[in-house]
Amino acid sequence: MSAKNLGSTGRRSSTWLGDGGKAGFIARHHLRQEGLSSRQFDGRPVIGIANTWSELTPCNIHLRGLAEGARRGIQQAGGTALEFPVLSIGEPFMRPTSMLYRNLMAMELEELCRANPLDAVVVLTGCDKTTPAALMALASVDLPSIVLTGGPMLNGRFRGRTVGSGTDVWKMSESLRSGEISQADFTEFESALNRSAGHCMTMGTASTMASITEAIGMQLPNAAALPAVDSRRLVLAEDTGARAVELAVEGLRPSAIMTREALENAILVNAACGGSTNAILHLLAIAGRLGIGLTLDDIDAITSRIPLLVDLMPSGAFLMEDFAYAGGVPALLHELSAVIHGDAMTVTGRTLAENIVPFRNDDSAVIRPLSNPVQPAGSGTAVLRGNLAPDGAVIKVSAADPALLTHLGPALVFDSLEEYLAVMGDPELDVTADTVLVVRGCGPKGYPGMPEVGNLPLPQRLLDAGVTDLVRISDARMSGTAFGACVLHVAPESAAGGPLALVRTGDMVCLDVPNRRLDMLVDLAELARRRAGLPPSAPPADRGWTRLYTEHVLQADRGVDLDFLVGASGDRPARSPF
Ligand code: FES
Repeated sequence: MSAKNLGSTGRRSSTWLGDGGKAGFIARHHLRQEGLSSRQFDGRPVIGIANTWSELTPCNIHLRGLAEGARRGIQQAGGTALEFPVLSIGEPFMRPTSMLYRNLMAMELEELCRANPLDAVVVLTGCDKTTPAALMALASVDLPSIVLTGGPMLNGRFRGRTVGSGTDVWKMSESLRSGEISQADFTEFESALNRSAGHCMTMGTASTMASITEAIGMQLPNAAALPAVDSRRLVLAEDTGARAVELAVEGLRPSAIMTREALENAILVNAACGGSTNAILHLLAIAGRLGIGLTLDDIDAITSRIPLLVDLMPSGAFLMEDFAYAGGVPALLHELSAVIHGDAMTVTGRTLAENIVPFRNDDSAVIRPLSNPVQPAGSGTAVLRGNLAPDGAVIKVSAADPALLTHLGPALVFDSLEEYLAVMGDPELDVTADTVLVVRGCGPKGYPGMPEVGNLPLPQRLLDAGVTDLVRISDARMSGTAFGACVLHVAPESAAGGPLALVRTGDMVCLDVPNRRLDMLVDLAELARRRAGLPPSAPPADRGWTRLYTEHVLQADRGVDLDFLVGASGDRPARSPF
């Protein structure tokens, strides 16, 4: 049955385009200037294609091709396709940090969906922040919608070995600093790493969020892992467009898909993938939009019972291309079938369990069974609390030297990233392998935007001594491709008056991951004295987005959303002038 035969009564777009008087005329005659025929206004569903393509977002450079694929699918299914641009967040370029703009993209996409004559929307994403921003927006506008992530790059290849985004960059840059490789080697590596379109191909934030989008039910099965340049991704785009038309007709909305059970499935998949710590922030923000009371402790409780099954960098050996050939997220869901909520509804109109029936695990070296994990349960992201982080902090257990997971050492404290970077090369820096490196002023308000700097480079003095990991504590984030004993997302951040602002060089700090504790061994009276002596907090930015952001941003335990964006407003415009 074609979509238009299913009837357009009550269709959202008809309140713009279906009116026979002046209001309908105004809407239709402007679409005619795009060359649209009367057939496009015969009551068929109007499907938006929200595109985060940008030459400033190299990971999304192929999304124009996917948009054409989606357009074909929409037209084949009897819909009208209208593509529109959305703020694109390019991870490599945006300063002070891409995270500052996640909420801006979410707000823009939400408003564009609500303000326009759309019955459903396809959202094309890829680079790190574009996917969570899309899910946040769709949760708040609750228009029938479907996401298609752009897919990962092909595996990097350098001098006969496979190399991964971020993970090998961090390793090679340390090798350059220690003199193991030359500048010429480093430059050659640069062009061998990113050799196709697509997002980072380690299990960094982009791959994690793509996998989560599939697990949460908001994109088609097997869409997360297939390489960006695989021709089957264009077929996926066509299928995504066609499905969007059906969603418009069926009225299946994100609120029926992104339920608490779906969020728990996402947390399970994140743990089994060795996914990015950033996913924790994004899931908390998405939950906030949906009105679901998800907490850091909920995430820890779920994560701590799931072993690492997917052997991908940075926690393992393989890359997304290998994950795709092994069967991708559907194959992983098969391995997790005993613990997932299989009856969660998805964008296909079927349950998650029904979606994965045609798939299987084709490579148990890449996707391990529960009986033979890469790392045991509890190796994912752990949530810590204590007098240094009363509202929580996180550490990616699988990425840290196991010997450092229980550690007592003296703090070496810096008030800003710049302050540390200025001295980290000093051969006389007072630092040992027992030091706990603390850098504050890198949180949502303090930096602002919570940059990915929590995997602080090791001091040169330790590098020269052969030290490969160190306990590092900050209110920053860390790239999903990074590794190390890095305690991140300390909340409240120092700029919001959190006790991180009180720790001083020489204080003993105790990290106890098995018991989920992070404490400084300083008595209460001394902490009260220090708090009384804190300087007044810095004034907010003068104007613009940064001012709005710093005045309204929530802390890490609330997903770093803006306080006035929490919750949903639905798809109805407040008023219409016609
Ligand atoms: Fe875009 Fe890594 S830089 S996903």
